[in-house]
Amino acid sequence: MQKTVLIIGSEGQIGSELCDALSVQGFKVIRADIRLQTDDAKLQYQLDATDKDAIESIVEEHRIEVVYLMAAMLSATAERHPQKAWELNMQSLLHVLDLAKEKKIKQVFWPSSIAIFGPDTPKKNTPQETVIHPSTVYGISKRAGEMWCAYYHRVFGVDVRSLRYPGIISYKTAPGGGTTDYAIEIFKSAKSEGQYTSFIEAHTITPMIYMSDAITATIALMQAPSESITVRTSYNLDGLAVSPHKLEEEIKKQLPDFKVDYTTDYRQAIAASWPESINDQRARADWGYTIHTDLQHLVQEMLTHIK
Ligand SMILES: NC(=O)c1ccc[n+]([C@@H]2O[C@H](COP(=O)([O-])OP(=O)(O)OC[C@H]3O[C@@H](n4cnc5c(N)ncnc54)[C@H](O)[C@@H]3O)[C@@H](O)[C@H]2O)c1
Repeated sequence: MQKTVLIIGSEGQIGSELCDALSVQGFKVIRADIRLQTDDAKLQYQLDATDKDAIESIVEEHRIEVVYLMAAMLSATAERHPQKAWELNMQSLLHVLDLAKEKKIKQVFWPSSIAIFGPDTPKKNTPQETVIHPSTVYGISKRAGEMWCAYYHRVFGVDVRSLRYPGIISYKTAPGGGTTDYAIEIFKSAKSEGQYTSFIEAHTITPMIYMSDAITATIALMQAPSESITVRTSYNLDGLAVSPHKLEEEIKKQLPDFKVDYTTDYRQAIAASWPESINDQRARADWGYTIHTDLQHLVQEMLTHIK
């Protein structure tokens, strides 16, 4: 029988593409988001992810088996609204974990982030288990969420799975207030204005992946047999080593007159506190994580498709 999945935060950068990918795979996808309007009116429920009763009534109505909880306040926005970020990022997760604990759903996906790592974490080849002192509200909420996931798995047997996504680069849906948003804006500006002012310093490297690799990883993790999942906090995922300068160089191969200048802001300190590369051996060994899109291909795709 067709499995029914609920995507909360379905209209966001990742949620929107996850919905399409899961539909193609044959899942019945129910979309829920707090946004009132979507461009293509695919949204089925206007839902506040902090409202447990509202989530539960959708779960019951559609006999949802799996919830992908993609609603969150992202790193840059969360620094401006710490309390709201904490409430949204924590409450929504605890509601969904409770529904799984009560056996109303069978499986949960919840994304963490490389933002859990702070300035005293080893910057290169960051291990799965290491010093984890996040320096942002967003990072604190993601680390706390990881600990809740591990707790609900250990104590209540909840099948919750998670990835520490690197920054995600894509062109279909605009990003939602993260520190790595520059790596999407740069392509828009390159095409429309031939110039970009970066809020991140030229040589600050953060790991990033192309959306298709993030979606493939998410689905692979969720489809892996339970016994192969050995990390119940959240899996490290490495990405491509991306900096504004590297993107500039790559874009110039296609648009030679493109120029970047720099006016950094508070987001520079956030990016500088994150690792440059991540050790993702566990994800590779347990369920076969691989990156398919290299930087050259990514830049080509972005320049071709971004509007
Ligand atoms: N995009 C990235 O680079 C990245 C990197 C690491 C982790 N993540 C994580 O992946 C998840 C999805 O990220 P994204 O980039 O798609 O974010 P996004 O901001 O693009 O989308 C989030 C969606 O959640 C919705 N939302 C916000 N508040 C809500 C609420 N109260 N109830 C219901 N919906 C609500 C928003 O309307 C939006 O459509 C988040 O947990 C994020 O922290 C993203």
